[in-house]
Amino acid sequence: MIPTKHDSIALINGLDWSQVEPEHLIQISLNFAIEFAQTVHDCIPTYHSNPLFQEFISGEIATNNLQYEDYHKTADHWEFLFHFVDNKTIALKTLLDLGVRDSHLFHVIKDYLQFVRPLPPDEKLATLVSREHELHGIFENMLDAHDWESLGYGFFSYFLERHIQLDSEDGGHDEIAKRLLNVKKFDKTLERFWYLRYQVYINLFK
Ligand SMILES: [Fe+2]
Repeated sequence: MIPTKHDSIALINGLDWSQVEPEHLIQISLNFAIEFAQTVHDCIPTYHSNPLFQEFISGEIATNNLQYEDYHKTADHWEFLFHFVDNKTIALKTLLDLGVRDSHLFHVIKDYLQFVRPLPPDEKLATLVSREHELHGIFENMLDAHDWESLGYGFFSYFLERHIQLDSEDGGHDEIAKRLLNVKKFDKTLERFWYLRYQVYINLFK
């Protein structure tokens, strides 16, 4: 028996991110942002003519709604993180570089990706809609966990703050996404999705 969606999200919201290395939190956020963009792109062939989907993706991919220091690109959000991770002389490369190839973290990330990648478009879209609703709360906890600015990772607090704002504001991504798809009938998919997501997060603590 895996926990309900509600319970997995509550577990994630109860995590104390100050106990996770800041660099690992940035790295996993980059990995999830890459997967997010891929999942959005996978939904395009099915939903491209839906005006709400068009409105939704205009704020998520090929967008200029993240502007910070020397970054002024029109691109997917992961490219923002990649830009700064790549520019810093810190050990922020890939999870493989972090030496986790054989670790439990590596396997749970694989489980997560192997679950999401083959999902049909409507289930993929359900995970996106659910993320727009839940992630801004999770990001608020991450934002408070470290003094990102003084660590030299101001780009990451900007990334979190902008997502919190874009997702939760009036007429923001959460509201658009909710109108796009009612996720009620996707409970089983979302239960699995948030459980695997929790498994990835909890394994950052080791
Ligand atoms: Fe969003």
